[in-house]
Amino acid sequence: MHAEKMLLSGPKFKANPYPTYAWLRENAPVHCRVSRDGAARMWFLTRYEDVAAALRDAERFVKDVRTAMTPEERARAPEPPPLYRLLTHHMLNADGATHARLRGLVNQAFSARQVETLAPRLREIAEDLMAGVVGRGRMDYVHDFALPFSIAVIAELLGVPERDHSRFRAWSHILMAPSSDNARNVRKTERLQRVMVDFVRYLEELCAERRRAPRADLITRLLEAEEAGDRLSTEELYSMVLLLTIVGHETSVYLLANQTLTLLTHPAVLEAIRSDRSLIAPAIEEAIRFDGPVERATMRFAAEDICLHGQTIRRGDAVSLVLASAHRDERVYREPERYDLARGGPRHLGFGLGAHYCLGAPLARLEARVALETLLERLPDVQLAIPYEALRWQTNPIVRGPKTLPLRWRLPAMQL
Ligand code: HEM
Repeated sequence: MHAEKMLLSGPKFKANPYPTYAWLRENAPVHCRVSRDGAARMWFLTRYEDVAAALRDAERFVKDVRTAMTPEERARAPEPPPLYRLLTHHMLNADGATHARLRGLVNQAFSARQVETLAPRLREIAEDLMAGVVGRGRMDYVHDFALPFSIAVIAELLGVPERDHSRFRAWSHILMAPSSDNARNVRKTERLQRVMVDFVRYLEELCAERRRAPRADLITRLLEAEEAGDRLSTEELYSMVLLLTIVGHETSVYLLANQTLTLLTHPAVLEAIRSDRSLIAPAIEEAIRFDGPVERATMRFAAEDICLHGQTIRRGDAVSLVLASAHRDERVYREPERYDLARGGPRHLGFGLGAHYCLGAPLARLEARVALETLLERLPDVQLAIPYEALRWQTNPIVRGPKTLPLRWRLPAMQL
């Protein structure tokens, strides 16, 4: 196999990326891809120890490409368009003190203690959604449950009215699309710009409404920080809302879908969970390791030349940390291809590690628990409605999850 020719994207690769990652771990653990014009390099790190070390090392693997530039390079770098700036000044693109300030503003709202108070409301949302489908005998778990559930949770937390949830969902789906694709495709770029304009306009209106009539939601709290002056700029406020919307549901949807798929394809484990609910938490954690929703961490840039396994990653090069590969690394996990609730080995990296460790991890775990409990209670004999091989997978390089997850179950015999 030639590493340079290996597919690392597209539907065929996404259907089962694990054999490719196994080959890279063994033969090219620090693998470079060069852009068509030869101007940009992107490195893939695939072994657990390397991925974990890079996640922890926020000094050398930075998130803002400008942090990796010299002052002269920074002065020469073109300014991104204003509209783009309005939506990209968020913590996941920031380093050092800026990152700490932005994260500090919302840390408390996502703390484990605060999130646990949301449990009854999450159960209500899940019950309502399930009540809408239970009599049908089949559903697409992604579109009928996981998506509306995840968007309702994050939108309520932010303070987005229910009537706007589906618009919110459509916008964030388009804004999440990989930027390289969009740059290649003018029509897509135009669409993206239109969506950005609509989204910003919507946020302006929502913020004006909350200024007039403050509520006990996150947007109101962020507006207070913005008004206090130096803590949050308008660009940062809008970017924060966009970030929380996108990471707050795109990932959760596939956490829910993938854990359901994993359990339905491991019926013995599913049975064990049915009779012992204390297994729910380990089942969720092992599902994140086995087939988690974040296949690759978001892009990093080398802040200096970095030598690793005989290769030199040059300052400014892009680096992709492949979590899905780290999770199948036979150097740290025994039989990594097995879904095994009793497994040892290091902690999974499914929520990242270090400075950018997932802010929403307690909320994501709660969503996963409530969704799984609801499924077990309301659909006792649920099954996959199509063979595993017939599933089609999302092609976004960061996210891993099926486009749809058709389920079926028996309806009770009609009462006479
Ligand atoms: C429930 C809603 C969620 C919210 C509100 C949320 C929020 C966030 C935020 C704000 C960050 C950036 C933190 C920073 O830069 O300091 C982040 C990072 C991350 N999140 Fe989440 N998240 C959620 C769900 C999930 C789920 C379900 C997963 C996967 C199981 C996940 C995996 C990650 C990972 C891997 C990172 C690190 C990305 C990187 O370092 O490149 N998140 N999350």
